[in-house]
Amino acid sequence: MLKVRNLQVFRGGKAVLHGIDVDVPAGEITAMVGPNGAGKSSTVLAMGGVIPAAGGSMELDGKNILGYRAEAVRAAGLAIVPEGHRVLGGLTVRDNLLVAASQFPPARIAGEIERMLSIFPELEPKLDVLGRALSGGQKQMVCIAQALMSDPKVLVIDELSLGLAPLIVKRLADVLKDIAKQGMGVLLIEQFTTLALSISSGALVLERGRVAYAGSATDLRDRPDILHGSYLATRADA
Ligand SMILES: Nc1ncnc2c1ncn2[C@@H]1O[C@H](COP(=O)(O)OP(=O)(O)O)[C@@H](O)[C@H]1O
Ligand SMILES: [Mg+2]
Repeated sequence: MLKVRNLQVFRGGKAVLHGIDVDVPAGEITAMVGPNGAGKSSTVLAMGGVIPAAGGSMELDGKNILGYRAEAVRAAGLAIVPEGHRVLGGLTVRDNLLVAASQFPPARIAGEIERMLSIFPELEPKLDVLGRALSGGQKQMVCIAQALMSDPKVLVIDELSLGLAPLIVKRLADVLKDIAKQGMGVLLIEQFTTLALSISSGALVLERGRVAYAGSATDLRDRPDILHGSYLATRADA
């Protein structure tokens, strides 16, 4: 459903993506793993229209949306959750959600917030709590809810699990599995492989701005040569 082809990105005058291809089929989770500095976050930001691409294409349902501004990418059906589960600390959870809903017709907003609370019932008692008072896991839930609020066709999440406790990671993974089952395409970006490969169908390994492996997640799990070669199966995976 989402086809990225030959994506090239420069940052600080240096090529950080040398023409990568990424497929994100509908109804599946696809993992992108790779060591620190490989270009994973640059991929997310270029896909989301946050930083410019120097070349390539990104087709969503047959339409090239690479080069669109961030709001237009989102309106076309691609939502990103950037690294670092950042919420607006001085706003309540409700207001954080409302900010993300601001482009909706007013009549739709309450329903969208209800829909998010049905996905993340944990947030209901936190609606009047300031963003800065949330745990890391709760912040990540708010960020995912903000992205899901536009009812995207494709969701791209950068470092879902970074800094979060295993129990909350499992909870978030279950949410992703559910939304994929309902038809969304999910691109899950993780530095470490255990979680990502356990819930994904397809997988790719990014290394120094190039795709070093693209195939099935199960096959990749059985390829310690690739994982160790990329310094991916490290202590955090043990
Ligand atoms: N804001 C920036 N300006 C210049 N170079 C950057 C910037 N952010 C990242 N880079 C460089 O881009 C490369 C890829 O980084 P990044 O996409 O963050 O990788 P990853 O998310 O896989 O760790 C690295 O060499 C990094 O130093
Ligand atoms: Mg990163």
